[in-house]
Amino acid sequence: MTGEGELAPPERLQKVLARAGFGSRRACEELIADGRVEVNDRSAELGQRVDLDTDRVSVDGVAVSIRPGLVYYLLNKPRGVVTTASDPQGRPTVVDLVPLEPRVFPVGRLDADTEGLLLLTNDGDLAHRLTHPRFGVEKEYLAELERDPSPASVRALREGVELDDGPTAPAKVAAVPPRGLRITIHEGRNRQVRRMCAAVGCPVVRLVRTRIGPVADRGLKPGSWRPLTLAEVRGLQEAAST
Ligand code: URA
Repeated sequence: MTGEGELAPPERLQKVLARAGFGSRRACEELIADGRVEVNDRSAELGQRVDLDTDRVSVDGVAVSIRPGLVYYLLNKPRGVVTTASDPQGRPTVVDLVPLEPRVFPVGRLDADTEGLLLLTNDGDLAHRLTHPRFGVEKEYLAELERDPSPASVRALREGVELDDGPTAPAKVAAVPPRGLRITIHEGRNRQVRRMCAAVGCPVVRLVRTRIGPVADRGLKPGSWRPLTLAEVRGLQEAAST
């Protein structure tokens, strides 16, 4: 995991271009072979390693960063706000809390009672990969429980518990006394953490999502949002690439 402020190691140019939205790796190799890509104002070579934090990369003379028009917001969702674009019951929604244009949609969902980090974007491809269990992107939660979990409960959560829609995958679980658990999962089933904790006899009284893949932010106030940094977008793309 790349920590906040750490630089990613240089990567092959075609991989960087593919992740920035210039098509498949093969298509990006062709862009390079056709002489359309420059690194630090010199014609690029296939396989050259670059670091977007320090190298100037351009395609057809246009600087490569994030594909133009794509936006990525990190919101700290307060309790009571629903994760949909519009709510028939008229409750406030997460899209009411971020800029109206360009239109973005939430990446996965947090239930109305759950607080914490939620991504909103108009990048459908990344959103799909972040939510699909196949890509295994971790989501970390801090759960406050009705009672202290027993060692057996913690063990059961780690190994996977039986829910009415099937067993859960093994989870990372750490006790946060008193009555708390830090729990990391990579599935995104409906009310999954609440149901897992209830299944081991420890109902959740408060649930906060504290991390999505490499992205965390302890300083973001409930109801506030900020754009992701380029390093965070790249970190998410990396986390969702295998
Ligand atoms: N698990 C839950 O129970 N609720 C959420 O909102 C997210 C994960």
